[in-house]
Amino acid sequence: MKPLNPEEITALLADPVPVYVLKETASTNLYAKQLLEDGTEAPFLVLAEKQTAGRGRGTHTFFSPESGLYFTLVIRPDDAADITAVTIAAAAALYEAVEMTAGIRCDIKWINDLYLNGRKTAGILCEAPWRSDGTLRGIIIGIGVNVAQKEFPEEIRETAGSLGAPDLDRNRLAACLADRIMHWCSVQDRTELMDLYRSRSFVLGKTVSFVRDGRTVTGKAVTVDDRGSLIVEADRIYELDSGEVSLKSWQ
Ligand code: BTN
Repeated sequence: MKPLNPEEITALLADPVPVYVLKETASTNLYAKQLLEDGTEAPFLVLAEKQTAGRGRGTHTFFSPESGLYFTLVIRPDDAADITAVTIAAAAALYEAVEMTAGIRCDIKWINDLYLNGRKTAGILCEAPWRSDGTLRGIIIGIGVNVAQKEFPEEIRETAGSLGAPDLDRNRLAACLADRIMHWCSVQDRTELMDLYRSRSFVLGKTVSFVRDGRTVTGKAVTVDDRGSLIVEADRIYELDSGEVSLKSWQ
């Protein structure tokens, strides 16, 4: 796999930002957080060839060997409405960047996972670190893409997959992803973004389950509203703001 190259990525960016490329780090999100704490001004981009402690949402880890893309873009807080809006923008951008650079059409699983052939191929972890004075330091958008992994640890072997694209130029993927995220975070009218997001969301129309107040609720996912909430019809209408839903079937 061709190595990541900061100069090449910078040259490809429509609106260049500082690019940090690391051979190895615990987590590009943690590295970015440290840069912010040390006074580095957003926007900037951190990439690593591999992560030794890649972080997922909640208590999850993110398997991060050398055959993936580990990407963290930090944007200024004023460039983002809220974390859900950024998450939606990042998911749509990820869908587009994979299609534009690898020619592969994936599916978005609400709220921010990318699936290919029913297997999770990429994930997004957005974080918003606060200063002690109550203001935001920046918005951290962490994305991991399984570009060419063939083997996965036991616990995710049945659910994880990759793009199967060892020849994919990750410099192009990273630059395109950063461009598309910055584009969607800068638009005022989010109609086009939400239309794109909904049209690529494969949970819509399907039966989903989720846990609410300790019980499992099953219903039909009808839409994602303009704020990014998943609307589910069950014994009543549920508006889900975050968390995970599971699908009864992938068909
Ligand atoms: C998830 O699937 O729950 C989110 C996974 C996010 C993984 C990416 S890889 C780059 C960035 N650094 C991290 O430690 N996590 C995110």
